[in-house]
Amino acid sequence: MSGDVEVLGRSRNVVVTGAAGFIGRHLVEALRGDGVDVVGIDRRDNWNDREIERTEDRGYLRAVHGDLVHMDLAALLRGAGAVFHLAALPGVRPSWTRFPEYLHCNVLATQRLLEACVRAGVGRVVLASSSSVYGGTTGVGESGVGAMGEEQVPCPLSPYGVTKLAAERLALAFAARDDAALAVRALRFFTVYGPGQRPDMFISRLIRATLTGAPIQIYGDGTQLRDFVHVSDVVRALCLAGRAGGGSDVLNIGTGSPVTVNEVLALTGELTGLAPDARYGPARIGDVGVTAADTTRARDRLGFSSAVDLRTGLTAQIEWTRGALAPAGAQAALDTASASGS
Ligand code: NAD
Ligand code: UGA
Repeated sequence: MSGDVEVLGRSRNVVVTGAAGFIGRHLVEALRGDGVDVVGIDRRDNWNDREIERTEDRGYLRAVHGDLVHMDLAALLRGAGAVFHLAALPGVRPSWTRFPEYLHCNVLATQRLLEACVRAGVGRVVLASSSSVYGGTTGVGESGVGAMGEEQVPCPLSPYGVTKLAAERLALAFAARDDAALAVRALRFFTVYGPGQRPDMFISRLIRATLTGAPIQIYGDGTQLRDFVHVSDVVRALCLAGRAGGGSDVLNIGTGSPVTVNEVLALTGELTGLAPDARYGPARIGDVGVTAADTTRARDRLGFSSAVDLRTGLTAQIEWTRGALAPAGAQAALDTASASGS
């Protein structure tokens, strides 16, 4: 990974849930690349039980297939220096119609994992939370005034956001127990993009549509603002948060520089040399108008700030997608595409 981050201090043995997902795969790669041993848990069909031995320069991987709500977690958590909890059902828009599944994956699974962490004496859980817990802001000025700060009262506008807030608060409640040796860092990721991005997400759909000449649906007039943060920055933030030391915390992970959907359309056109075929339609219920991270706390407490600008990140994702669309990349693309709803 970034090479300049001493991942996790001295903890060389971690558990990652949601390890077969978009962010999970990047995190597992980064951890193993830094010699950390990983137990990765996921319920995806393509995440088979298997082990990959440690080599001189790469950590061990034990890939465990199962649902966090039903599986026996005790043995998997024994001796873990940190747990990265990324498993969840992540899309905003489908959460109106699939709420029981969101409750299962985002709330029940989190509760079961935390209970097992307390029993196993795990010292640190880093939890993937979301900007969707905020519910929106009115707009951001040049100086970042109006950005979402962690002290803002959360007011989610989608069932997904409600379940992410519930998971975050559950984790903090477990950490506050007198009998728990647990510290929790909840990282509120803003909209994450990069190679392997979930196929239901905007940038992923836009690049594919543009490269294949298909139309791209725009929900609303495209003036909605998103704080798009590159997955390599998110992985670096996760690794910094997994280090020993410090108490429990909630931290925004974004760039602080939101752009509109229309700006991403234009930049994609410029970088590909192809004109996206944008079809404008109604905005989706629960989609917030603006997300914008106040990044002060992450900088002060984690030493984190984003490094990848949108032009660089988008260029890399376009190249990755070209590879995935080529015949040899088709199987990999299918693997990535499985299991995410829209
Ligand atoms: P993803 O869907 O690609 O990965 C999530 C993984 O969790 C999937 O592989 C899924 O199979 C697994 N999972 C879900 N429920 C499970 C269960 N009960 N037991 C075992 N495995 C289970 O999503 P992602 O985009 O990589 O998101 C990862 C995390 O980051 C999620 O918690 C999401 O809410 C959060 N997040 C993502 C973004 C983003 O823009 N991608 C932004 C904010 C927060
Ligand atoms: C993303 C993730 O999907 C959530 O898991 C995450 O919690 C959330 O970011 C977050 O920031 O916390 P979202 O911002 O909706 O949610 O991400 P995209 O799917 O990439 O959508 C970005 C914007 O593009 C939205 O306004 C959406 O309405 C729009 N969009 C999306 C389209 O116009 N067309 C599409 O086909 C898809």
